[in-house]
Amino acid sequence: MKLEDLSPEAALAALQWQLTLGADEAISPVPLDRLKDPSPEGAPLSEAPNLQAQERPAAAAEPTGPRGPVQDAIRIAASAQSLDALRAGLAAFEGCALKQGARNLVFADGLAGAHVMVIGEAPGQEEDRMGLPFVGASGRLLDAMFAAIGLSRTAADPASGLYITNTLPWRPPRNRTPSDDEVQMMLPFLERHIALAAPRVIVPMGSPAVKAVLATATGITRLRGRWAEREGIRVLPMFHPAALLRDPMKKRQTWADLLSLSAGLRG
Ligand code: URA
Repeated sequence: MKLEDLSPEAALAALQWQLTLGADEAISPVPLDRLKDPSPEGAPLSEAPNLQAQERPAAAAEPTGPRGPVQDAIRIAASAQSLDALRAGLAAFEGCALKQGARNLVFADGLAGAHVMVIGEAPGQEEDRMGLPFVGASGRLLDAMFAAIGLSRTAADPASGLYITNTLPWRPPRNRTPSDDEVQMMLPFLERHIALAAPRVIVPMGSPAVKAVLATATGITRLRGRWAEREGIRVLPMFHPAALLRDPMKKRQTWADLLSLSAGLRG
């Protein structure tokens, strides 16, 4: 069938299908696996050659050692000595295509130094507009949930404060779930964020966050409510507030998890 034989409705449906497949997210004429280790010997990522340089003629390769989005992320994140420096490093990072479609960098909210650090998935529309995490419907539920055990992002005292960030700092198009590649690329920033915020307990909310924090392939349904540890910091995974809005039956388990968090903070 030729294009001109399509009815306007069928042509529109075909275009929408292309959008669903991500046609509007193309940023390069060839697919680029930014995480693939390109060395035949399987050198560690930090020593891997520049992926972008590999696409250019050899003469154009930079002589300054390994460069590429992942190496940039590792280097920029490691050099940040404060949360402000990390925010500035993220704002300058050009390796993640999500940045191009986002209005704002969404870095964090709440009290830096709070005993509890909440890590969500990625900004939604409201968060993208305001440049703050969890300010839409999920955020209102999140605030109510933690208020029930005496924790708040507006508290000035670390014991009752909350520090809130996301696995990704830019909104994925149409709020889609972040891809594993996107999460892996931005992981050096998240890891540095955790190190600089130095919480006593991390609460990853939802599967992308728990997978990133605990380096596991297991999803949130199996891991929620089970205390774990990451580099000496206790971790209590919980359902994402958006999951509770979709399925209120999960609220009972979440209440048990909040009580467990409260007891864990006291113990
Ligand atoms: N969902 C998230 O995971 N994070 C936000 O900031 C908002 C909604």
